[in-house]
Amino acid sequence: MVSQLTDAFARKFYYLRLSITDVCNFRCNYCLPDGYKPNANKRFLTLDEIKRVGRGFAELGTEKVRLTGGEPTLRRDFVDIIAAIRENSAIRTLAVTTNGYRMARDVQSWKDAGLTAINVSVDSLDARQFHTITGQDKFRQVMEGIDAGFDAGFAKIKVNTVLMRDVNDRSLNTFLDWIKLRPIQLRFIELMETGEGTDLFRKHHVSGQVIRQQLLEKGWQQSIRARSDGPAQVFTHPDYQGEIGLIMPYEKDFCQSCNRLRVSAIGNLHLCLFGEQGISLRDLLTEDSQLDALKSRIQDKLQTKKQTHFLHQGNSGITQNLSFIGG
Ligand code: GTP
Ligand code: 5AD
Ligand code: SF4
Repeated sequence: MVSQLTDAFARKFYYLRLSITDVCNFRCNYCLPDGYKPNANKRFLTLDEIKRVGRGFAELGTEKVRLTGGEPTLRRDFVDIIAAIRENSAIRTLAVTTNGYRMARDVQSWKDAGLTAINVSVDSLDARQFHTITGQDKFRQVMEGIDAGFDAGFAKIKVNTVLMRDVNDRSLNTFLDWIKLRPIQLRFIELMETGEGTDLFRKHHVSGQVIRQQLLEKGWQQSIRARSDGPAQVFTHPDYQGEIGLIMPYEKDFCQSCNRLRVSAIGNLHLCLFGEQGISLRDLLTEDSQLDALKSRIQDKLQTKKQTHFLHQGNSGITQNLSFIGG
């Protein structure tokens, strides 16, 4: 189906990032440095509400859904959520972004339920440094999880690495060795400034251009952007099975290729990761008969999406950590 979700700048949105929980069992220093704080007043979307979100977006031409969190795989009904979204035949790609904690144990059941792609966060290949960054001594478990993902039949897995000055920005060779014989797309993500992370940002933000330069010097070649790449720049090398992706949100033309909308775990539609509070959809998720109203609201609100986040012109970064809005 042709996407009916087009904004005022002719960008098409056929990709939904759907957060299904804020809860996370890791404490990544750039995301949840003090760990997750439970909030009894927060009600996350139910399985039925998630089904209605999936159906509404599918009927608007969405082809890809990514389940995010917090840590989405901690939900007890995670497998049911996968199956429910896959009931929409238009949704051909159903992905998850995970910290990898549950992968070794559960990845086969995700695959069996219809999951088609996985992104795992790994900020360091050194077990001790991994522990320091995430607050969890789970490096081995996550590595086993990635192997289990390949065993379960995922042909390619993406790995997210948040780039941090003096933490992992000098480990390029170690990362490259790791993907030499593995079909992993390793994505270096520029650290983004959150309300709670201002000091960390000042200390550790480093431009992805530094990595880009090093890759070019080592003979890596930038690929022509595929529609599925979204804002990532992808690099390949004939001697490596893996690829590198660079996500550089502070670049001035980053938003031109924006192809995604977000729904948070409490049912707010977010048109951008930065600088907005979200538009509630929840009142239109209680009954199936509200489907048309839901679709109209999504289409109408999309027309207010701004051309860019204007970060390169000094607009401030996001106010909430990414575990809330799903990254
Ligand atoms: P694919 O769906 O495989 O293309 O990956 P993705 O980059 O969309 O998904 P993933 O959840 O792995 O994203 C990794 C991180 O990249 C996100 O958590 C964000 O930190 C960043 N990111 C992804 N999309 C955007 C975006 O539209 N804007 C900004 N600023 N950052 C983004
Ligand atoms: N800056 C950049 N990336 C972030 N992520 C979470 N918080 C930040 C931040 N402040 C990334 C994680 C994970 C994905 C869901 O979001 O690395 O891969
Ligand atoms: Fe959890 Fe992901 Fe945030 Fe790390 S980045 S604390 S794994 S939600």
